[in-house]
Amino acid sequence: MSERSFRFSHAITREPAPSISRGLRAVDTGTPDLSVMLANHRDYIAALRSTGAEVITLAPQDAYPDSVFVEDTALCLPEGAIIMRPGAPSRLGEAAEIAPMLRVLYSEVHEITAPGHIEGGDILVTEREILVGLSERTNRAGVEQLTALTAPWGYSVRIVETPPGVLHFKTDCSLLDAETILSTRRLAASGCFHDYRVIHTAEGEDAAANTIRFNDLVLMPAGFPRTRDALVKAGYDLREIGNSECAKLDGGMSCLSLRFTPR
Ligand code: GLY
Repeated sequence: MSERSFRFSHAITREPAPSISRGLRAVDTGTPDLSVMLANHRDYIAALRSTGAEVITLAPQDAYPDSVFVEDTALCLPEGAIIMRPGAPSRLGEAAEIAPMLRVLYSEVHEITAPGHIEGGDILVTEREILVGLSERTNRAGVEQLTALTAPWGYSVRIVETPPGVLHFKTDCSLLDAETILSTRRLAASGCFHDYRVIHTAEGEDAAANTIRFNDLVLMPAGFPRTRDALVKAGYDLREIGNSECAKLDGGMSCLSLRFTPR
């Protein structure tokens, strides 16, 4: 079976900028500490690199406080890249900033246009389909454009719902392998993963749901011991990465990179 949804030759990250203190957040739980975030970011990049992947780290962009969350700016598939159109007004300009790098790496690059909005955090690519969660940041017009752009490459897009009050669809779930999803119980209860194997985050550990499977590793946020133990028991090779500062901005493991293998 193909493993294109979790085997990657490349990743793109962007270093956090001092303006991260003004990053968007649903609830204010304190100002992120840039030095701690930078240290965690270095650990994250080291874990990606340890799998043999090439990791491109873009310069910090102080004009965009949330620009460390580079996943929201694009969807990168083997066949081509699609520049997103973020639904948060303060993040709209981030998409244009990522485009030049993707045009170097890909011969085929498309863009989501108005009135469409879509952020990468709402997109879960599995071996058999692309799930997109409607959210405050992602609307039907955006998903319809994504569907039309990826159909010629052989993908089918399925629209799902992001739980109310949750930033992105992948805030609550992540791909662990070709058949297995890690999900909060509140998201899995919607039935959206009915034909996958589901491992639930432990009670009280919903914030552990946003992991990434990257080649042979699963990167997960540190501090969720019961979910970690369940994943170890299931046979995954885990790396725990500090996420305390990104969590203050509703960010997690997937938000911090674009992961791909350009053809
Ligand atoms: N702070 C991440 C976001 O709201 O997009």
